[in-house]
Amino acid sequence: MKRTHDEANLQLVVSAKNDGADGVAVIQLQTPEGTDLPAWSPGAHIDLMLTSEITRQYSLCGDPADRSTWQIGVLREPAGRGGSQYVHDKISVGDRAHIRGPRNRFELDDSPNYLFIAGGIGITPIMTMAAEADRAGAQWTLIYGGRSRSTMAFVDELCSRYPDNVIVFPQNERGLIDLDRLLGTPLPATLIYACGPGPLLDAVTEKSRGWPDGSLRLERFSAKPLDEPVRESSFEIELSSTGSRITVQPNESILDAVTAFGVQVLSSCKEGTCGTCETPVLEGTVDHRDSLLTKIEQDANDTMMICVSRSSCPRLVLEL
Ligand code: FES
Repeated sequence: MKRTHDEANLQLVVSAKNDGADGVAVIQLQTPEGTDLPAWSPGAHIDLMLTSEITRQYSLCGDPADRSTWQIGVLREPAGRGGSQYVHDKISVGDRAHIRGPRNRFELDDSPNYLFIAGGIGITPIMTMAAEADRAGAQWTLIYGGRSRSTMAFVDELCSRYPDNVIVFPQNERGLIDLDRLLGTPLPATLIYACGPGPLLDAVTEKSRGWPDGSLRLERFSAKPLDEPVRESSFEIELSSTGSRITVQPNESILDAVTAFGVQVLSSCKEGTCGTCETPVLEGTVDHRDSLLTKIEQDANDTMMICVSRSSCPRLVLEL
């Protein structure tokens, strides 16, 4: 379980901005003084606070051993909510960037074998994991799909560095990743890490149902559709620090209720994908509605994303 509320707030400088592929900007960030940045591990992401209203999460995709520079890859999403367009069109070398983090809700657990699956810009967290697996001497394969080679960031770098480990699926050359073949038979002692568009992750989830519990780790860029809450009526939360009790109405989130009560909890995506609002649970049963905890983590019932998750029982006690 992670507490993420003590992460850094940083003013960094954009030290480089390059085209990583069609529609992908690769941006490097440094401190204004050139000092070391906070340490991070593969799978970590940062909040890029673009304006007072626009905050977006991006995976760090450089080398964790290089403390001088952070690197992110940003896909331009014309149909998105405006964050990626802002990064592409308004951010230039020399600009200051307000950053929060890093934060890691997609950590690479130790394993002798890994199967990495990346779709499109989902390569950004996965490529750092592959490099770490390689450094650790694990057996690993990376399956990397995209619409075409020209849209697949870092594809040449990955293929030339790891020719025996990386298999690419440019859709216009060889179609979609053959998940039936890839996941049809569970591999022994193997963890699957996948990141990419929702339909790819849904398919990976479906096709890996026969694998042992806990084999699959996903990171979603956008939230799964929210299920109806288990409990339709209001419920109460108790704050362990003060014993205060707050009623959460059916049409408000726990995050909104505690904020209105005057308790400050960091939040970012507000859709259950980033992990910023993660809060320990001391009593009660959670109705998990987030898109990032694994089934095992949800079943443990000791932490929750209070921006979307709710209570299945009349009262939850939270470590707030
Ligand atoms: S604010 Fe992102 S998971 Fe709650």
